[in-house]
Amino acid sequence: MADRPHIVIGVCGSIAAFKIAVLHKYLRDHAEVTVAMTPSATQFVGPQTFLALTGNPVITSLWEPTHSKPKHIDLADELDLLLIAPATANILAKAAHGIADEPVSTLIMSSLPDEKPIVFAPAMNTRMWKNPATVENVKTLRERGYHFIAPESGDLACGWQGEGRLAEPQVIAKQVFALLGLDDVKVTG
Ligand SMILES: Cc1cc2nc3c(=O)[nH]c(=O)nc-3n(C[C@H](O)[C@H](O)[C@H](O)COP(=O)(O)O)c2cc1C
Repeated sequence: MADRPHIVIGVCGSIAAFKIAVLHKYLRDHAEVTVAMTPSATQFVGPQTFLALTGNPVITSLWEPTHSKPKHIDLADELDLLLIAPATANILAKAAHGIADEPVSTLIMSSLPDEKPIVFAPAMNTRMWKNPATVENVKTLRERGYHFIAPESGDLACGWQGEGRLAEPQVIAKQVFALLGLDDVKVTG
């Protein structure tokens, strides 16, 4: 690993996507950050926000003809940790079933959980989180060696109260640094 680990964040289509801008504040002093987005994620936060924050190009399409090698393969080679946050019910289902049809799912498929940590921080409505399909997908992914940062209970953007709120950015940052072996990093904004 280089002095500064390279963290790639795959952002998915959830209202909690804006929290990744806050999360970046906790990561930036100790890591290089690149963001990839699903098409749905771009409905919630503009790629320009992540470009400005990270200083790195944001991957929003598999089809930008700017690289001789596919960008997702380069990134999968370079990254030290892949964080999927917020992880939707949809991306968990795709990861569990090997679907790779946009930048984030393709990055997941191009990375192996026994080579580098791949971490999901889910965020979704309580019913989506407790849906037997999601429960089964999470179980499958855990068994394959993927890491999870559990969602919290509380007020959800959809008006519900219950389990499914994205873990606080500081909590995510702490766990990410721990998985990189950087337990002594102080997570302050
Ligand atoms: C306003 C709004 C908020 C949403 N929030 C979530 C969410 O927090 N978690 C989730 O799993 N899906 C959420 N969805 C549904 C996803 O955006 C939808 O399933 C989408 O297909 C996910 O695509 P992606 O996984 O490729 O990002 C939301 C949809 C809308 C319209």
